[in-house]
Amino acid sequence: MKKFSKIMIAALIVLLVIPVLGGCAPSEPTAQEDGKTLVIGVSLPTQREERWVKDKEAMVAYAEELGYEIKVQIADADQAQQTQQVENLLTQGIDVLILAPHDASASAELIKKAHEENVPVISYDRLVTSSDSLDYYLSFDNEAVGRLQGEYFVDTVESGTIMLFAGAPTDNNAKLFFQGAMSVIQPKIDSGDYKVIGGTEFQQVATDNWVPANAQNRASNILTANADEDVVGVLAPNDGTAGGIIEAFKAAGLAVPVVTGQDSELAAVKRIRSGEQAMTIFKDTRALAKAAIDMAITIGNGDTVETNGMVDNGSIEVKSVLLEPKVVTQDNFQEMLVDSGYINADELN
Ligand code: BGC
Repeated sequence: MKKFSKIMIAALIVLLVIPVLGGCAPSEPTAQEDGKTLVIGVSLPTQREERWVKDKEAMVAYAEELGYEIKVQIADADQAQQTQQVENLLTQGIDVLILAPHDASASAELIKKAHEENVPVISYDRLVTSSDSLDYYLSFDNEAVGRLQGEYFVDTVESGTIMLFAGAPTDNNAKLFFQGAMSVIQPKIDSGDYKVIGGTEFQQVATDNWVPANAQNRASNILTANADEDVVGVLAPNDGTAGGIIEAFKAAGLAVPVVTGQDSELAAVKRIRSGEQAMTIFKDTRALAKAAIDMAITIGNGDTVETNGMVDNGSIEVKSVLLEPKVVTQDNFQEMLVDSGYINADELN
């Protein structure tokens, strides 16, 4: 028996200590340690949605923790501004570019410019389309985001009149979210369970620049034009637009129907807690930001990045890493968002 437990203890030590040692071993040398001067450039499209603020904070904190220099530029949902900022970054001298494009196809030009300076590019969260030389794509499985919204919707809204919204036409993600959601919702429209007011085509239901006020105005107009309809559900692509849509119902003096969302913004989590918004999607931007920096360092050091898929950007198959989105409801927001520290408990209360 004694012998047995000694063996067990030895085995336990091996099991417990080896992963710990592995976890502590510095995976990459830091700039200070080895005198390398790898500079990471980041170009983000906006800070309007809370998530992009979190992406930025997490990238800067992690790059600095590892000792790498990071230069971040933010465009205010404006392609001309983003182009100029990327040019500035290239002039200043960066070794890798992490680019979340405002305009998916117009940004192919930015990849060309980066490559002229021998700077590899990671398309971050949003895919750069029509580029025949994009190096990597790092995002969530965006079609799955839409599918999760759609599945929640059809599970919750059995039948009746519904409204559909999508994100910005310039953002490839918006198309994927809508495609994913409609793969589940369309059969219920075809079967006659749902009657849609306000249109079903992406271009008809898209929200320019993802602006919540645009979604709110469109919702108000549809409600006014269909005053005799009792709307039971609204597919909203993200929390910002969900907020606008919910305001439109309130302003019209109507009960708020089932409204979906995405991003796990603080305001949305408050609405989910109070029952005003039905669900959101959790995409852990901390994990995405960290993965982007790790990827940038790996590429910058000339090493090969491990990927988990290939995504067609309309021109080539891009080596991709896609993380998993999760559904958040009243039942799990505490555990998933508050306990994990994604949402600050003090701010929620
Ligand atoms: C992102 C969403 C975000 C939206 C508006 C999308 O590309 O994936 O998380 O809500 O842009 O910024």
